[in-house]
Amino acid sequence: GSGDCLRGKDVVITAGPTREALDPVRYLSNHSSGKMGFALAQAAQRAGARVTLIAGPVNLNTPTHVKRVDVVDAREMRDAAERAADLCDIFISAAAVADFRPASVAEQKLKKQEDQDESAIVLVKNPDIVAGIASRTERRPFTIGFAAETQQVEQYAQSKLQRKNLDMIIANDVSCAGSGFNSDHNAVTVIDRNGSHTLPSALKTDLAKQLIEIIAAKTQQ
Ligand code: PMT
Repeated sequence: GSGDCLRGKDVVITAGPTREALDPVRYLSNHSSGKMGFALAQAAQRAGARVTLIAGPVNLNTPTHVKRVDVVDAREMRDAAERAADLCDIFISAAAVADFRPASVAEQKLKKQEDQDESAIVLVKNPDIVAGIASRTERRPFTIGFAAETQQVEQYAQSKLQRKNLDMIIANDVSCAGSGFNSDHNAVTVIDRNGSHTLPSALKTDLAKQLIEIIAAKTQQ
């Protein structure tokens, strides 16, 4: 039954946004609430897994019997993920990691100048956390990414699956109202090298249970 489909497995899940500092009082981030990743952590734990949840800044309670590691920016999330992934069977990247961060963090609060009407921020690339895990040649877990897209959802997700060398990608159309970022609901398409499977809109907690069963079936083959 689903009550123990992940018994004995170690699962690592990233969740929430990252926050990339600009100065002591400002940052770049996104609307991820962490709900999808936390729901997956709870579902995996209830399915018998030992779960480590690496969380960006979110306002959610830790699911029972889940080990939580709090991080703020992408490089901290990468360090925590790399450490936790060494001992895991399944890695799920549900976090909305900032692709870029400000090239430098001002030591003091940035000031606007008199008559200043424009300002520009130089950004540099952040490490790709899930691609780093998936590129391992040793201690490589079954690696699952998410794809948050606003158009051509399946095509873009397919190309991410291949480019990042993932075993599975879970695509969500984040342009649909009442789905994706911050909503309690989501609708996804699960894609792997053998095909795709769409799960209609449901509560993230219910969707998480279905996703964990699909992942358990794939990792038991
Ligand atoms: O947190 P919620 O409010 O519940 O919303 C859930 C969600 C919409 C954030 C979630 O379902 C989701 O889609 N997460 C991935 C969001 C995202 O940033 O997707 P992406 O297409 O930019 O990234 C693709 C994959 O690479 C993701 O697995 C992401 O975690 C990973 N990634 C991206 C960039 C980076 N530097 N490192 C990464 O690991």
